[in-house]
Amino acid sequence: MVKIKNIKGRQVFDSRGNPTLEAEVYSDNGSAFAIVPSGASTGTHEAFELRDKNNNDYLGKSVFTAVANVNNLISKALKDIDLNDQSKIDKILIELDGTEQKKKLGANAILSVSIACCKLAAIENKTPLFKYLSKNKDYLLPVPLLNIINGGVHANNNLDIQEFMIRPENTNSFSEAIRRSFLVIQNLKKMLDNTNVGDEGGFAPNFKSNDEAIEIIIKSIEKSGFRPDKDVSICLDVAANELKQPKNIEYYLNLIDKYPIKSIEDPFAEDEWDSWNNLTKNTNIQIVGDDLFATNKKRLNRGINEKSANAILVKLNQIGTVSETLDVIDHAQKNDFKTIISHRSGDSEDTFIADLCVATKSSQIKSGSLARSERVSKYNRLLRIEDALGNSIKMAKI
Ligand code: PGA
Ligand code: ZN
Repeated sequence: MVKIKNIKGRQVFDSRGNPTLEAEVYSDNGSAFAIVPSGASTGTHEAFELRDKNNNDYLGKSVFTAVANVNNLISKALKDIDLNDQSKIDKILIELDGTEQKKKLGANAILSVSIACCKLAAIENKTPLFKYLSKNKDYLLPVPLLNIINGGVHANNNLDIQEFMIRPENTNSFSEAIRRSFLVIQNLKKMLDNTNVGDEGGFAPNFKSNDEAIEIIIKSIEKSGFRPDKDVSICLDVAANELKQPKNIEYYLNLIDKYPIKSIEDPFAEDEWDSWNNLTKNTNIQIVGDDLFATNKKRLNRGINEKSANAILVKLNQIGTVSETLDVIDHAQKNDFKTIISHRSGDSEDTFIADLCVATKSSQIKSGSLARSERVSKYNRLLRIEDALGNSIKMAKI
């Protein structure tokens, strides 16, 4: 048994320059910290992010109340608890909060501590994080979904679809998946006059239409010597909650017919269950629930029963603890749903999600484009894991 000695919270900053929360957990021998990310297109079913709305020093965005919750209530409740017992740690946090959406302490306060405890436990066990997190001690590397053109609320342009992603298909290594992505991104860059990037590192110029953005990606795939669809496909995150003019099923069926699109996330708003079922029934591509499920087991269960999608986007801060996240992933996989582990548009140097992916054998990871350190850090962590495990680790099948 290794006891939690102390926990300290502090306000740091995320990739958008907004305040966020970092928790540092101490044992007798060491410490570990975790920084929580923050979304821009957040769903209403997500766990609650506590910010000091009335503190004008940081335009209402500071997290000092959440920091105080870590330093006082949480630190007291977890003192002397065994670091190796993640379920007990998370149970104490959930009960201490006592609300469905973690509104009392703030999901940001709770999650920062939950992840930091997990990281310190791995250090104390002298084992890499992905090994510590894995139940069966077998691993897979995820296929990356790289958001190479940013729109919606992540960019200052006229695209209403939020994310235009590429997915390298059938590579036998993670490094080859990244090499293909690198080439496509560099060739895309050459074709654009304006190469400014959005929140997730993808280019963010104005286009005439969503179609134009898709067509230029196809050209850059071809220019790189790859076959669209077979070698590199296109995946979209519509983030439909944010759409001013919602899209219908015909719009999507037409897009899927016309272009090498293999995955669509959040085609409809978070409570339009019937439309979700209708699209999933009428296509064989991947349909991903992000705001629809909000990494919440109850909502996922409804989606499994109603066949609303066939994949779930997993974001730790949508639910608020490591244990609940692992439980949702497990439940999804047992019901043949693909699991895609995801960053947030406001992220940091924290690479926990890379290890989470490998440990849970999740088929895909979403961490933005190959630009901006908070995005690339997750891909770099996966390259390191691949390098360390060599031939003994394979790519996940999609
Ligand atoms: P968010 O966007 O982090 O701004 O919510 C990511 C997504 O919608 O997948
Ligand atoms: Zn999304």
